[in-house]
Amino acid sequence: AGTYVVSGSASGIGQAVADRLRTDGHTVIGVDLRDAEIIADLSSESGRREAVAAVLERSGGRLDGAVLAAGLGPAKGRERLIAEVNVLGVTDLLEGLRSALAATGNAKVVVIGSNSTTTTPLVPRRAVRRLRDGDLDRAVRQIRRRIGLSAPVAYAASKLAVSMWCREHAVADEWAGAGIRLNVIAPGPVLTPLLRAQLDSDTGKQVRSFPVPIRQYGTPGQFADWIALMLSPSADFLVGGVIMIDGGTDALLRPDAW
Ligand code: NAI
Repeated sequence: AGTYVVSGSASGIGQAVADRLRTDGHTVIGVDLRDAEIIADLSSESGRREAVAAVLERSGGRLDGAVLAAGLGPAKGRERLIAEVNVLGVTDLLEGLRSALAATGNAKVVVIGSNSTTTTPLVPRRAVRRLRDGDLDRAVRQIRRRIGLSAPVAYAASKLAVSMWCREHAVADEWAGAGIRLNVIAPGPVLTPLLRAQLDSDTGKQVRSFPVPIRQYGTPGQFADWIALMLSPSADFLVGGVIMIDGGTDALLRPDAW
């Protein structure tokens, strides 16, 4: 049995993963705004620092893996928060926990990306690079110029930035070289409180018109299974992967992409 940190463990995919790992006999250190072993607000630098310190203390500086599932969906006026939680809430946590992940020799990290990365039009690439490099002020200013689209663009940009950060770091000496397998899972729509809120919002009609060839939404339990596999020895050779599990939307919109 191992010790795993799961951010966003109080709801949706993170909660399903935490339940699954506990059922399998592992120790889970959940991090969330509520109902978690560690209560922390990942939208602020101090919250992220406190979360890292608390995880290191609780784990004794040794982690078998991490699942970064805390995240915010697209909502107007929340562009800055989305960038803080979806990007820095992942990258700051992983930087802070890297030595604990290296300590076990073959740790596995799964970051939840999104298929919005390949299905959202008009995402400014420079803003994505700025987000990845931690220049949130200028990135968010640029994103807010996409009048009427700034929420979906902020969301997709945050997921692109965090996915790029993961691929870049996955292969570095400090990560792959230390036996840490860093990968991304990129879901299409999954029926969680996050998606429910979008379906119930004034953009619900647009959300419903998002084409999913298999004509159903994913479930948190399915993602718990995929993520458990990505944390298992079966995934020892998976490094820097972005695993798209989306009911066919990406293939529908980009049939020629490799
Ligand atoms: P959810 O809303 O059910 O769960 C997200 C969790 O993150 C919540 O427990 C929330 O409290 C926590 N969280 C949010 N802000 C936080 C903060 N500042 N500090 C600490 N914790 C915070 O959402 P869901 O659907 O389970 O999403 C999990 C991940 O999957 C997110 O990164 C989301 O972007 C991603 N995703 C979800 C999809 C979906 O359709 N549900 C599709 C693609 C990606």
